[in-house]
Amino acid sequence: MSCCEEKPGKSMKAALIHLNIGFVVGILFVLLTYLIVSQQTAIGGLNGHACVDGGKSVIGGGGINNGSGAISGGVLARRMAEKGKVVYNTKGYYSETCEVDGDVRINSTALTVSLVPTTSSERREWRIRPYSRKTMPDVKMVTVTQLPDKAAAPACTATYSIPAVIFALGGLTGNFWHDFTDVLVPLFIASRRYAGEVQFLITNMRPWYPVAYKTILQGLSKYDIVDLDDDAHVRCFPHVTVGIHQHRDLSIIPEWSPGGRLAMPDFTRFLREVYALPRAAPASLVREPGRRPRLLLIHRGHSRRFMNEQEILRAAEAAGFEAVAMDLRRDVTVDEQTRAVNSFDALLGVHGAGLTNALFLPPGAVLIQVVPYGKMDVIATLEFGEPAKEMGLRYLDYSVRAEESTLLEMLGPEHPAIKDPDAVHRSGWDKMTEFYLDKQSVRIDIARFAPTLVQAFDYLRQQ
Ligand SMILES: *[C@@H]1O[C@H](CO)[C@@H](O)[C@H](O)[C@H]1NC(C)=O
Ligand SMILES: *[C@@H]1O[C@H](CO)[C@@H](O)[C@H](O)[C@H]1NC(C)=O
Repeated sequence: MSCCEEKPGKSMKAALIHLNIGFVVGILFVLLTYLIVSQQTAIGGLNGHACVDGGKSVIGGGGINNGSGAISGGVLARRMAEKGKVVYNTKGYYSETCEVDGDVRINSTALTVSLVPTTSSERREWRIRPYSRKTMPDVKMVTVTQLPDKAAAPACTATYSIPAVIFALGGLTGNFWHDFTDVLVPLFIASRRYAGEVQFLITNMRPWYPVAYKTILQGLSKYDIVDLDDDAHVRCFPHVTVGIHQHRDLSIIPEWSPGGRLAMPDFTRFLREVYALPRAAPASLVREPGRRPRLLLIHRGHSRRFMNEQEILRAAEAAGFEAVAMDLRRDVTVDEQTRAVNSFDALLGVHGAGLTNALFLPPGAVLIQVVPYGKMDVIATLEFGEPAKEMGLRYLDYSVRAEESTLLEMLGPEHPAIKDPDAVHRSGWDKMTEFYLDKQSVRIDIARFAPTLVQAFDYLRQQ
């Protein structure tokens, strides 16, 4: 039972069952959550609503107080500092987490986290999906229980003096954007405060994931991860965070981070540190006049391709850049990819997971997002535009017109996808993504696009 059960869970589940988790699905899912979030923020303001267990709990397990209304950061901090407590948090929209402090015992087989009280107290129970999108149907629930007394406590088989964070993989991992926004940024928020002295416990393990992101995981925790799917211990900790909290898309809301200190520039600084990325600023044209800043065009091989890539590269050269196209997804490790991207001063790509590479650009560099035809501006801004600004990048977008979209020649001018994108959006997310994300590629009108390249160059000239 969770306090903020949202209605669309079923439709997402139905939709997800029929699709492989991957690039396309990831973006589809995000589109749907965007629609829900936009509805909710219209009602509840940007912060949505917070549900913090206020102490007036329902006895007997299963129920919790779902007191609505935002709780102030100060009150939250005070509660988090309290010993022998469970603090439930569902700020924002995506996630729910519990901070469990005191004598905490995790039965891996049962996926239970029990808080053993110092004096007899009420029994309370929370059910948490430890993935940062609480609606993901394939993610196993963790049961958090505040036990009534010591007698019910399972005996520890491994005891730690450091805190732990329990989180799930599965979900939408496998899409580069989701790997970061769903897992790595929320995990950074949860664990950075411990400076490596923290144990990660993972459910719904995807064995490739800790391999692909070894550098980041080792940067956050000095200890080998524990795979809870394959563990028979009762592991005991002084503090456990159950679930990780996604504040917004690829974003950190400082007041919501532990201690109120973290922001996206801290995350990108951390990435430069662990990947040993040399550049923390773009090329300075003030100090090196005549230097050509480097622009990376992200080549996509399947959907949302640039049909006139060579022409775009020439236009970028004409605007003053040294321009290179790369397919970052092929045969490159994440570590190599980060270093390649960090050597550039500007990144240009069609809306899609490849733009996540903006994380590795030096602050002050430029991100240019090409927004596909079909009223995709809002989602593009939410997923990449706002995050880029938060990271300290200069951000530009370019919205393609019907004439620049392959949909026009494919469907003809009378098709609803061309004539009436609003109607396509209203008809549901599967139609919208089918046309605007999956079937579409773009042929950029160079004359129309050139001012965007000039603007990007001007941003860098001011550095
Ligand atoms: C939460 O509280 C609201 C208003 O008090 C109530 O309408 C709603 O049913 C409650 N939700 C749950 C899951 O208990
Ligand atoms: C842990 O959970 C499993 C499965 O529910 C149960 O069989 C086992 O007895 C539990 N261990 C302890 C020490 O309570």
